[in-house]
Amino acid sequence: MSVSEVRAAGHEALLLATKLLQRARRADPHAGLWEAADVQWWWRTPRRSDEIEKIFWVDDEGPVAGVLITSWTDDAWQCDPVVVPGASDPETNVVWTRAIEHAASHSETGFEVPVSDDDRTFTELAQRSELIPGRHDSTAWMDAAGPPTVSALPPGFQLVDRTQRRDTPHPLRRRNGNGVAQRLAQCPLYDPALDLAVETSDGKVAGYSLYWFDPTTRVGLVEPVRVEDEFRRRGLARAMLCTGTDRLIGRGADRVKISYETDAAAALYQSVGFRPTSTATWYRALSN
Ligand SMILES: CC(C)(COP(=O)(O)OP(=O)(O)OC[C@H]1O[C@@H](n2cnc3c(N)ncnc32)[C@H](O)[C@@H]1OP(=O)(O)O)[C@@H](O)C(=O)NCCC(=O)NCCS
Repeated sequence: MSVSEVRAAGHEALLLATKLLQRARRADPHAGLWEAADVQWWWRTPRRSDEIEKIFWVDDEGPVAGVLITSWTDDAWQCDPVVVPGASDPETNVVWTRAIEHAASHSETGFEVPVSDDDRTFTELAQRSELIPGRHDSTAWMDAAGPPTVSALPPGFQLVDRTQRRDTPHPLRRRNGNGVAQRLAQCPLYDPALDLAVETSDGKVAGYSLYWFDPTTRVGLVEPVRVEDEFRRRGLARAMLCTGTDRLIGRGADRVKISYETDAAAALYQSVGFRPTSTATWYRALSN
């Protein structure tokens, strides 16, 4: 199969990254760090990296490899080389080298490359490239066969989704800007019925969480989960998670995935039935 290189920016790149990650997940149920829904979640706010051309290698079936570049802030950039498991063209080391060069040419302050600790090839490439190992995160999965029993909210709170609140400001706007609802609507995997919030009886948002179902891979993703400081440790996150994962399984998800960095999040997710499966290291490349 002949492979050609294409470049794309903006929403076109988002759609190509979606196809690439869906193909990667179909090729291997465990490999790699990201689901298509992750890159759609990253789309929630405009970024400097939106207009940067990303590199994709495409064969007769669509994208088979790619280089994703994401700027979180002006100083925090992320580079993700992605290769569909089992693909031999382009070679993994070629994709890696192009990724590092591409990220270095755009970020003035350096960048991070997250690598699954199970991925020996990328780990060796990171070490050989003299990137510096930094922070870690963990990933946990829940099988549809073992969904949690739905835990109830404490009195005085109610759970709503965006189909019930279309005309009110989106709870994510404080941290992600006023355009967040519009950006989420541009994501093919976004579903307003899976966009949950917990409200107090006077309509204040106490917490929110988003659930993404991908019918192509039958994987559900949870991202983000947040309960505001003053409402923590009352079971709000647990109740949202139980409802959200239940809705994902109802949509047809065979498995649900979540990633996290803190001990609090680990305890929360394990308490509703997620089982940790892997860790990742964020390798740092310093600017020249
Ligand atoms: C993590 C977070 C969502 C938890 O929300 P919450 O509504 O306080 O969580 P719950 O009350 O539903 O807690 C359920 C269980 O999670 C665990 N848990 C929650 N917060 C914890 C903490 N600070 N330390 C240890 N365990 C914790 C406990 O097992 C708890 O059960 P318990 O209270 O019966 O012991 C909240 O602290 C938060 O928004 N943090 C900032 C954003 C964040 O880290 N999100 C997760 C990103 S992956």
